[in-house]
Amino acid sequence: MSTIDKINQLRKERDAVILAHYYVDDEVQAIADYVGDSFYLSKIATMVKAKTIVFCGVFFMGESAKILNPEKTVILPDMGADCPMAHMADIRKINEAREQYKDLAVVCYINSTAELKTYADVCVTSSNAMKIVKSLPNQHIYFIPDENLGRYIASKVPEKHFIFNDGYCHVHTSITAKNVNIVKGIHPRAQVLVHPECTMEVIALADYVGSTSGIINYVAESRNKEFIVCTEMGVLYELQLKKPKKRFYDAGQKQCSDMKRVTLEKVADALEKMENVVELEEGKRLAASKPLERMLELG
Ligand code: 13P
Ligand code: SF4
Repeated sequence: MSTIDKINQLRKERDAVILAHYYVDDEVQAIADYVGDSFYLSKIATMVKAKTIVFCGVFFMGESAKILNPEKTVILPDMGADCPMAHMADIRKINEAREQYKDLAVVCYINSTAELKTYADVCVTSSNAMKIVKSLPNQHIYFIPDENLGRYIASKVPEKHFIFNDGYCHVHTSITAKNVNIVKGIHPRAQVLVHPECTMEVIALADYVGSTSGIINYVAESRNKEFIVCTEMGVLYELQLKKPKKRFYDAGQKQCSDMKRVTLEKVADALEKMENVVELEEGKRLAASKPLERMLELG
């Protein structure tokens, strides 16, 4: 039996739904029931009826699905697929900022551990951060863990005072303005599409800035035929499915090696053995669910 047949049989037997992020390998995206950006996937996780969720993504994604759905079994095909940025914030500094600014809102990018989320007032993703930050009554915003996303949002919400944290994504910061300009020099008609985890110098070159879904939707609606893609190139699978005649160029970025740890074999294996189940201590789950649920309400 092929691995895909095995997955198809097991997903019925285990009453499982397979969610995948746009950065996982093409063949994994191809067998998923739902593929999307972080916000879409966290919303879908609360809406599906299946008893089991197989999350083809990195650890914080499976963890968030479990936080929002304690009654479901959430499985990660590879427990070691972990976003390094999810750990990049210091709790001591968060507490100090709370002491310093009485009306502080700690805004936590969903790319964060459950532990970090327990210190947050609200979570955001790259597709809803601007809307949510604008809607908060607080004047002072401590944005964790991604400095680049924080700076981008701050540039769009100048009426608020931001405190930044020094977390970053090694994939998006591997994209340099110099490389984007070189590719633009070769393909002058190409529009530059940028994920807001990139640096402000790269963002300054963008024709469009947005989440993975935002970038895909922009291409689908644009009359332009060529694009320089400044995010993880896993998005190419969906871009080429939607617009096979358009041309896409990379900017020499790294791959997300953690997302690429998810394979079809690991999906089949985890479903067969029902292993790699995400577990969370109930007190921590409850505390982390508050900012996530607030995001779903506001986003
Ligand atoms: P999106 O929410 O845009 O899909 O981003 C997820 C991510 O990990 C970006 O590095
Ligand atoms: Fe984390 Fe960057 Fe990979 Fe996204 S692309 S999961 S932020 S390391």
